[in-house]
Amino acid sequence: MHLHKYEKIWLVFGMASLVLFLLIIGFAAFWKGTHPQSHIETIDPQNVEAHDAFKPENLGIREVADGKYIVNIVASAFNYDFGKDTEGTAIKTIRVPKGSTVLYQITTKDVVHGFQVAGTNVNMMVEPGHISRYETVMKNAGEFTIVCNEYCGIGHHQMYGTVEVYE
Ligand code: CUA
Repeated sequence: MHLHKYEKIWLVFGMASLVLFLLIIGFAAFWKGTHPQSHIETIDPQNVEAHDAFKPENLGIREVADGKYIVNIVASAFNYDFGKDTEGTAIKTIRVPKGSTVLYQITTKDVVHGFQVAGTNVNMMVEPGHISRYETVMKNAGEFTIVCNEYCGIGHHQMYGTVEVYE
C-alpha cells in the first residue's frame, strides 16, 4: 500500500493529538481529581448545617444589597429545601424582581443532584461534599421551573421548585 506523503503527515499528527488529549484528560481526571470551578469549597455532607449558608433559618432567598439576592438551598433525595415560611410550610417558590442579581448556593446531603432553572442559564451539578455556586442576572420575567437533571433515584422526578421573576 502506498501512502501519500501528506497522508502520512496527517496520520502521525492525528495519532499524536489523540495521545496528547488522552494524557491531558487522564492527568486532569485521575491525578488532579478535577472538579468544575464552582465546586472549590468543600462541606461535610453529614452536617451541612455547620455551614452558615445552610442553617435551616438561612435557607431560601435573602436580599443582601439593593437588587442583589442570595438563595441557599439544600438538596436531598428527593427534595430541594428552600426553608419554611412564617406558617411553617415548606417554601417551593423563590420570588425575585426582574433584573436582580441572584447568587444560588446549593449543596446536597446525600447523592449527586442537579439544579437547573429551566429557561435561564442556571444549571449546576450538585455533589455531596461540595458547594455549587452560580450568580446570574434574572433578565426575563416569568415563572421558571427548577428541575433536578441528574438521575438520583426513584423520586428524581419529584424534585422541583419554581423561580418567579416579577416585573
Ligand atoms: Cu435529584 Cu434527580
